[in-house]
Amino acid sequence: MNSIVIGLQWGDEGKGKIVQKLSRSHDWIVRFSSGPNAGHTVYHGDTKMVHHLLPSGTEKNFLFIGRGTLVDLETLNSEINEISKIYPDIKERLFISPYCRVITPIEKWQDGAIERMKGKKSVGTTGRGIGPTVSNDANRIGIRLFDLFDEEHLKEKVALLAKMSDFDGKSVSDALLEQFKKIKDRISEVNVKGSVLFEGTQGIMLDPMYGTYPYVTSTPTIPSFAFYGSGLKSENHEVWGVFKAYATRVGAGPFPTEVFGEAGDALRKRGSEFGATTGRPRRCGWIDLPQLEYASDVSDVDHLVMTKADVLNGLEKVGVCTAYDKEITPYDLENVKPTIEYVKGWKDLESSEFSDFVSIVERHLGRRVDYISYGPSEGEIFQRKG
Ligand code: GDP
Ligand code: IMO
Ligand code: MG
Repeated sequence: MNSIVIGLQWGDEGKGKIVQKLSRSHDWIVRFSSGPNAGHTVYHGDTKMVHHLLPSGTEKNFLFIGRGTLVDLETLNSEINEISKIYPDIKERLFISPYCRVITPIEKWQDGAIERMKGKKSVGTTGRGIGPTVSNDANRIGIRLFDLFDEEHLKEKVALLAKMSDFDGKSVSDALLEQFKKIKDRISEVNVKGSVLFEGTQGIMLDPMYGTYPYVTSTPTIPSFAFYGSGLKSENHEVWGVFKAYATRVGAGPFPTEVFGEAGDALRKRGSEFGATTGRPRRCGWIDLPQLEYASDVSDVDHLVMTKADVLNGLEKVGVCTAYDKEITPYDLENVKPTIEYVKGWKDLESSEFSDFVSIVERHLGRRVDYISYGPSEGEIFQRKG
């Protein structure tokens, strides 16, 4: 059985940790979307690593970066160096599709320039060049990894791209080729045998088509993209939807259950809610059941995994958004008024108050929560009884 792990909120739900846990029962871990804007925190034993581009697998997995992934060669090489200290054979197990789109310094500069142009309406991107890489590709002037095999051809393509900026095309191509040398022998499509875990990125609400556009990322986050973005087929798979016991969002855009002021700061502090990619403070709020219901339906999840419930241990009361004041689409979440009900807090995850909280979530979503994660490391998770 193959698996697809996705985030059901605005990203940072703890997907990396869940992928690592599930990686034990899969042969391949495959990335199929986004790029170094993702930051998936994984503990390899005691060593913490934030995976931006490398799939969050462990010692036994083959890793594939599928064509839907945007690759920043410098980030990729530095991540390979870091993880080689833990898994010296990592490179032999890693394959990168030649069709991956390449992020150049030109797109990173464009990302900042577009954000500045938008002023107050800026998205608060990660600045990793994601949007411009997708749009340059759509305009058929982007760079793909296979372009780097032919130096002259690459130089021509980069020269065209550089016309949109003050960049010197030659230095950009030289720098790209220098980085490319280090992973050239890993560029290949794959012939997969065994079971595959597709590692999703961001969350449903950041999907460009199904999320809170225009406050979204630029590549799909929904499970069906796993196949398009990897080129792999799957006859049998299950979708794992990961969500926090509360909610967070980095960057601008609607967030109906956001908690402001001291209470919001307290949640951020408890959950150490600072971006794994940019270090920005994450906006924090209560769990939003209408939002989660929408995201679970859109992604047709088979399994729900709740993370970070431990972060709320010891709170006197916990907020739960049970309704909005009107029927909405994700596009007009901005003006919605959430109904927040407060339930009794719990001492620990064995308390009956915590079971009551989980039951409220399950009743609203009409789906079972299969796993509860209660800490950052791989073992800190339990399967619910019954
Ligand atoms: P991802 O992008 O979805 O992989 O999530 P991030 O790594 O950006 O953010 C999740 C953060 O929460 C990381 O620091 C994880 O180590 C941590 N984490 C994951 N699951 C749990 C959990 O159940 N409890 C606690 N306390 N921390 C968790
Ligand atoms: P993981 O996979 C949380 C957000 C940015 C911004 C918007 C667009 O770790 O959950 P982009 O740089 O993609 O053009 O920014 O999307 N964003 C994320 N937020 N987790 C992520 O990834 C994110 N990747 C992008 O903050 O609001
Ligand atoms: Mg993250």
